[in-house]
Amino acid sequence: MSTPVLLEAIGIEKYYDKFAALGGVNLKVRANTVHSVIGPNGAGKTTLFHMLTGTKTVSAGRIVFDGHDVTHEPDYRRVQRGIARSFQVTSLFLTLPVRENLRLAAQGIAPAKALNCWHAPVGARACCGHRGQCAGQAGSGALCRHPGRQSFARATAPTGGGHGPCRQAQGDLLDEPTSGMGIDDLDDMKRLIKSLRDEHTVVLIEHNMNIVMDISDTVTVMQLGRVLAEGLPHEIRSDDRVRAAYLGNMITGGKA
Ligand SMILES: Nc1ncnc2c1ncn2[C@@H]1O[C@H](COP(=O)(O)OP(=O)(O)OP(=O)(O)O)[C@@H](O)[C@H]1O
Ligand SMILES: [Mg+2]
Repeated sequence: MSTPVLLEAIGIEKYYDKFAALGGVNLKVRANTVHSVIGPNGAGKTTLFHMLTGTKTVSAGRIVFDGHDVTHEPDYRRVQRGIARSFQVTSLFLTLPVRENLRLAAQGIAPAKALNCWHAPVGARACCGHRGQCAGQAGSGALCRHPGRQSFARATAPTGGGHGPCRQAQGDLLDEPTSGMGIDDLDDMKRLIKSLRDEHTVVLIEHNMNIVMDISDTVTVMQLGRVLAEGLPHEIRSDDRVRAAYLGNMITGGKA
């Protein structure tokens, strides 16, 4: 039995001047699934994430999250609703310890207060419990220092309304979380993402086809700003349009 739709994009268009980066994308992400978005470089995957998270505004179309039309809501409001993301290009403070990077993410719970540099981050604003929880999810020790893992931990950090209790991010949008990772870490990351499904919904952009085919419930293939195909991993693997369009022999293994 399929779970309810948590996140939906309806006819999303995004123009940069006259260039259509997205030409009418429809996407339905079901709760507690791993939904991968794949496609060749420049297909529009990251642009779609920008639209879903409010990092950039849509040119046309609607986005519905958890029953709310969030199309015109700013990114921080969507974070409060439970949409979290990691960026393809990470923006971590590499000179800070892991725990401080996680605390910065957790401080999204009360962004206005977090920017108040006159008071020490104590009490709820310290977000100690949550950063510990995030660190636990991402692994510990040396492994947790990997930028990809830290980025992952930040994306899965609890968020929440300014004054209310912190809430777990419900929709985690991960943009190439394994990028730059050594082969030794890939299995761990795969397990981590898969385990998120119990309490989260994951939208994953990933070029590593082994990971995509292994952990996805649904795969959407994008090409030239549009959805080319969607289905179960084995359906995508054997889809002639997908093969013809770009996957070719890559889908049998290795990196796209
Ligand atoms: N700010 C921008 N201004 C103009 N064009 C842009 C801008 N951002 C992205 N594009 C273009 O939009 C298209 C989609 O880019 P996008 O980054 O979404 O692709 P992608 O599928 O994430 O690719 P990759 O796999 O390389 O990360 C590309 O042709 C890109 O050059
Ligand atoms: Mg991208």
